Amino acid sequence: MASIKTLSFIAILVFFTVAQVVVSSDPDILTDYVLPPNTTATDVNYFTYTGMRSLVNATYPANFTVVKASLNEFPGLLGQSVSCAILEFPAGSVNPLHIHPRATELLFVLQGSLQVGFVDTTNKLFNQSLQTGDIFVFPKGLVHFQYNSNSTGSALAVSAFGSASAGTQSIANSVFNSTIFEGILAESFNTSTDIIERIESGLKG
Ligand SMILES: *[C@@H]1O[C@H](CO)[C@@H](O)[C@H](O)[C@H]1NC(C)=O
Ligand SMILES: *[C@@H]1O[C@H](CO)[C@@H](O)[C@H](O)[C@H]1NC(C)=O
Ligand SMILES: *[C@@H]1O[C@H](CO)[C@@H](O)[C@H](O)[C@H]1NC(C)=O
Ligand SMILES: *[C@@H]1O[C@H](CO)[C@@H](O)[C@H](O)[C@H]1NC(C)=O
Ligand SMILES: *[C@@H]1O[C@H](CO)[C@@H](O)[C@H](O)[C@H]1NC(C)=O
Ligand SMILES: *[C@@H]1O[C@H](CO)[C@@H](O)[C@H](O)[C@H]1NC(C)=O
Ligand SMILES: *[C@@H]1O[C@H](CO)[C@@H](O)[C@H](O)[C@H]1NC(C)=O
Repeated sequence: MASIKTLSFIAILVFFTVAQVVVSSDPDILTDYVLPPNTTATDVNYFTYTGMRSLVNATYPANFTVVKASLNEFPGLLGQSVSCAILEFPAGSVNPLHIHPRATELLFVLQGSLQVGFVDTTNKLFNQSLQTGDIFVFPKGLVHFQYNSNSTGSALAVSAFGSASAGTQSIANSVFNSTIFEGILAESFNTSTDIIERIESGLKG
């Protein structure tokens, strides 16, 4: 089984350095770094996140899995305008349609291959087949997806974000799993409330 031990850590370091230069977008801070309000002093551990160690040599998950290192998990990112995530795609799995409202995403395929795409504000689809070693940029705030179409092989990617807190808004959940009045959904999608209810019930599981 594939695992994260195949990562090239040097490649990742370079990747994040580039990501920071290219896609920074959080407000600039006026100090070298920012400490949370409950903290007065810090040491090097504040700038270190070890949560990804659990992925090393771990068995591959059965379903698509994201492991994030964003402000929520890693307080040392406060004010630094970057974050990252490891994306694990078992054979045939999808990272469903979603948006990052506060950041551009720079995705690097470390293992396997991915079909990816985003839709711009004119509804034009930009889709691509990525191989191991390829990098793709998803512009900030646009609807996008990633799909491992290989039915036998897994894929692994690392994504860098130009915000310490990129945010993720699932299209399916924000539209069909957020208690928006069904009549409004039926009008919005030019369909019947029966169809809307069928979609909603699939998401409620
Ligand atoms: C300070 O607050 C942050 C975020 O609420 C929390 O993660 C951290 O553990 C706290 N640190 C201390 C020293 O209490
Ligand atoms: C991961 O597995 C390799 C051998 O396959 C081993 O050398 C290494 O120490 C392991 N790493 C961890 C963190 O368990
Ligand atoms: C994987 O997804 C399937 C189908 O959605 C679900 O039934 C199953 O519980 C999930 N497995 C894990 C380990 O989350
Ligand atoms: C892009 O999507 C179209 C329509 O779904 C598909 O026919 C085409 O093969 C895809 N192209 C790539 C490069 O994945
Ligand atoms: C699918 O994955 C398998 C196992 O990693 C690999 O041998 C094969 O070349 C992949 N197929 C394609 C079309 O990339
Ligand atoms: C809604 O669908 C009907 C057919 O079911 C079609 O005639 C009509 O043009 C559609 N309206 C819009 C706004 O797409
Ligand atoms: C839909 O929303 C419910 C309640 O918030 C949540 O438990 C469920 O996981 C959501 N469905 C999906 C597919 O995420």
